[in-house]
Amino acid sequence: MHTDVQEILFTEEEVAAKVRELGELITREYQGKELLVIGILKGAAMFMGDLVKRIGMVVEMDFMAVSSYGKSSESSGVVRIIKDLDKSIEGRHVLIVEDIIDTGLTLHYLKNLLEQRNAASVKVAALLDKPERRQVEISPDYLGFSVPDHFIVGYGLDFAERYRNLPYVGVLKPEVYQS
Ligand code: PRP
Ligand code: MN
Ligand code: MG
Repeated sequence: MHTDVQEILFTEEEVAAKVRELGELITREYQGKELLVIGILKGAAMFMGDLVKRIGMVVEMDFMAVSSYGKSSESSGVVRIIKDLDKSIEGRHVLIVEDIIDTGLTLHYLKNLLEQRNAASVKVAALLDKPERRQVEISPDYLGFSVPDHFIVGYGLDFAERYRNLPYVGVLKPEVYQS
């Protein structure tokens, strides 16, 4: 375990088992449909990469990069698009992949945006959910784990861009982000 990590919430093996389970569920539910999987950079990178490998059919992949204004203080819920999708999603079955839902503002904005672009369907897969922090009503269609309101890092999740490459999901020691 990294010295800045206080506790491991989900080991690499536990994450892999959950991702496999979600992949199998998604495979069953999208049987006979063409799926476009959209990863939200950067946090979703690990989950996206592992999840698509567990989906037992051909999918297309695309990515968006967004930055949320006012993440720390009061937020308007407006999200700035840093990188948009490469292609039109009109008529497509879309699955948004996120690492974590916190206030819900990012996902709420993205889901509305993709629905407005006339996707056939827009669903959400999130590895982690922090329901205590929610500011808008939104919940994932496919969820890995609910987590308590702690500073969580690893498996894509960062603090100041660090710790994304930890293979597990853990809680950061308070002295690391308080210093
Ligand atoms: C994090 C996380 C989600 C979003 C969730 O991304 O990856 O995308 O915040 O927060 P919300 O529910 O309160 O909107 P972040 O903006 O930190 O960018 P990153 O993915 O590049 O780390
Ligand atoms: Mn993110
Ligand atoms: Mg982040």
